[in-house]
Amino acid sequence: MSIQSSQWWAVALAAEVTAAKPKGVSVDNEPIVLFRDQSGAIRALEDRCPHRRMPLSLGRVREDGLLQCGYHGWSFDGVTGQCKAIPNLLVGEKVPSTYGVFPYRAIEQNDFIYVAAGTALQALPPNLYASPKKIFSGRHTVGLAHAEFIAALMDGPQLLLDCAGIRISDTLIADPHLEDGWLVMERAAFWLGQTQFDGFVREYKLIFRLAINPETAESWLSFTHPDSSVVAVAHLAITPSTRGTTAILWRSFASTAAGVRSTLLRSAAALGRAPITVRAHIDMGAVARLLVGPSEHWQRDNREPGLYGTILTKERARL
Ligand code: FES
Repeated sequence: MSIQSSQWWAVALAAEVTAAKPKGVSVDNEPIVLFRDQSGAIRALEDRCPHRRMPLSLGRVREDGLLQCGYHGWSFDGVTGQCKAIPNLLVGEKVPSTYGVFPYRAIEQNDFIYVAAGTALQALPPNLYASPKKIFSGRHTVGLAHAEFIAALMDGPQLLLDCAGIRISDTLIADPHLEDGWLVMERAAFWLGQTQFDGFVREYKLIFRLAINPETAESWLSFTHPDSSVVAVAHLAITPSTRGTTAILWRSFASTAAGVRSTLLRSAAALGRAPITVRAHIDMGAVARLLVGPSEHWQRDNREPGLYGTILTKERARL
C-alpha cells in the first residue's frame, strides 16, 4: 500500500464481505481482495494472482477457507498469502514456498472493514457518538481525489451531503482547530423552510460540526441545537481509491431528536431514508467554483503538512 501504511483504511461495509464471493476493492490504486474464510474471519490479500495476474476477486473461497484463483485454480492462505495448492502437480511435487501474494491486515469495526499494510499501526480512533439502534449505511465512489474531497467537505459540505430537511450555511462558527486529536470545525445550519435571514443578525437554529481524523480524514458529522443536544449524526470513512477517485463509506444514525422540525428527520428514517448521506450526484461545477476556505492549509498529497500539519507537529512535540 503506497499511502500511509501505519493507518487503517476503511474499504468495505462489513455486510458486503461474505464467504460466498470474494470482493475486490482498492486503496490508492492498490488492488485488494476481501473475503471471509471458513471460520467467518475477515481476510485481505493482494488482488493479483502471481501466476498470470488475474484478479483473485474473480475466484472463489474454498470450503477449507483458501482463496482459489478462477483461472488455473491456484489457492492462497488468507493469513500468510502463501500459495498452498496448485492443481495437477506431479506426484511428490510441492508448491514452492516463494509463491504467494501480499497479505494485508484486516479488521471489522463499526460495520466497516478496515485494512492496513504495515505492522506499527495506529489504533482506530474512538467513536465520537454512541450508536443508536437504527443505522443506515452505504457507499459511494466520488470522482474527486482524496485531498480534493476533503477540501470540498471543509469548504462546501452542502455540495457533498444530503441532509434531510437541513441546509448547511456558508457561515463558519468555529475555524478548524484541534480537539482531542480531531481537526474540528463548525458551521451554522438551518432547517429548510425556516424564514430566510441575514446571517449577521439572525440566530441560526443548528450547528453543523465536522470532526476529521487528520491522518486519514475519516470524519464524524453532526447537527446539534445550540444547547448541544444532538439532532443527527453520520460517520464517513473516506479512502483514496483508483484513478483519482475516492470511496466514501457512510453510516447515518436515525435521529431521536425531539421537536417539531426534527420530525423531518424522524419521518425520513421511518421511511427508510438516511438522515445524512453523501449525495449520489455531486454538482462538480459547483465544487469547482467553491472558494477556498478552511481547507487552504490542508495538504496531504505532497506530504507537506501545511499550517494544520505544523500545528499538529508542534502539539505532538509538546506531548
Ligand atoms: S492466473 Fe491465477 S492460477 Fe493462473
